[in-house]
Amino acid sequence: MTTITTQDRPCCAQSFNKLTEVIAGGVGSPTRAFKYVDEAPIVVKRGAGDMIYDVDGNGYIDYHMSWGALVHGHAHPAVIGGIQRRLADGTSYGLSCPLEEELARLIVSNVPSVEKVRFVASGTEATMSALRVARGYTGRDYVIKFTGCFHGHADFLLVRGGSAMIGQTPTASSAGVPADMVKYTLCLPYNDVEATRDVLNSPEYRDNIAAVIVEPIAGNMGVVPGTKEFLTMLREETEKTGALLIFDEVITGFRVALGGAQQLYGIKPDLTCFAKVMGGGTQTAAFGGAQEIMDVLAPKGPVYQAGTLTGNPISMEAGIQTLKLLEAPGVFAELERKACLLLEPVAERLERKGAPACVQHVGSMFTLFLGRTEMTCMEDAPGLNDSLFRRFYSYLFARGILLAPAQYEASFISTVHTDEHLIYTRDVILDFIEQTF
Ligand SMILES: Cc1ncc(COP(=O)(O)O)c(C=O)c1O
Repeated sequence: MTTITTQDRPCCAQSFNKLTEVIAGGVGSPTRAFKYVDEAPIVVKRGAGDMIYDVDGNGYIDYHMSWGALVHGHAHPAVIGGIQRRLADGTSYGLSCPLEEELARLIVSNVPSVEKVRFVASGTEATMSALRVARGYTGRDYVIKFTGCFHGHADFLLVRGGSAMIGQTPTASSAGVPADMVKYTLCLPYNDVEATRDVLNSPEYRDNIAAVIVEPIAGNMGVVPGTKEFLTMLREETEKTGALLIFDEVITGFRVALGGAQQLYGIKPDLTCFAKVMGGGTQTAAFGGAQEIMDVLAPKGPVYQAGTLTGNPISMEAGIQTLKLLEAPGVFAELERKACLLLEPVAERLERKGAPACVQHVGSMFTLFLGRTEMTCMEDAPGLNDSLFRRFYSYLFARGILLAPAQYEASFISTVHTDEHLIYTRDVILDFIEQTF
């Protein structure tokens, strides 16, 4: 592959300028502006398999994969074929349709903790609604989240946490969020067993915590797996104190295993949130759990939740096709094989050189952290080398490799990444390591 430079992207620059004239910041989501790397954002024309192409026609091996939504890569024939078949019958009914049952059954049959689901439009809605259900079910107000875990942009989840939260007033991490909106959200350090146990059992909070929400394998500070001890403690302590445990599996659901991270850890949360993979790259999401809990939702129960386009046939079909492909034998083992082909030699080389860096991956989600040999929580972030990451990112980008454009994000391998592209990527990363350490 020849190298790609900024001069090779005149249409991207022009198109992005035009986007900024009519779209706030030119983007639909802040990280798309490439502010954490030294590159101008690409503007995409199309995707095919494991490749994405910008409007100048440059191709990149895509490990961004629409923030992990595309587990089967771009424009998979089964997913696109399914969508095309449905299109002739309309895009949305705003009423129930049998496809909802089919996708719900695929979720319920693969994730044993989930007996009933409710479809929503985005991961943000899934977490927001799951927490409303938890509050309605328990009659309690407080929620615990963890620093570095992202659960979408509902007001009360945009909270800044400190490492010593007890006694500290929670503060909003975004302008536009009134202090009162975050006063019931406690933000604690991820993987900190003692601090979390203390808060869950403290006289002040013990009987007032509705739910603990957690990414069991965090993807939003880069890939940082929850420790078994941490997640087991969350399950035990929430059971003891009457709070619900919510696994935010928006990234990990149908990504790390058919049954998500909860299958890998053998832990049953009370509620689970899904998005990304389950929608096959279209806009849908879901949350679910035990029937008894989900029955608090209207129209059966008193907790309100609704959505105009939820359960639309296009998204349902994309999700059905995606999950059916994942049910084929050996898919997750193959994803793991692909991940190891790319990542194991990188990890070995870093270790052999004694480089201050590490690869963290679970199945097909991965991050190369530069500056630390381990990342266990967001409090480790000051040790990361952001300027080196910017160099690393540009080195790969120039060679036609697209990672998530920030060190604190996960990158993703799909079922359609070819060995040739994985080996090429591995060799480019090894070259960078040789030149740097
Ligand atoms: C773990 C997690 N939860 C929730 C969300 C919010 O999902 P959405 O962007 O679909 O609103 C995200 C988005 O990246 C996420 O990674």
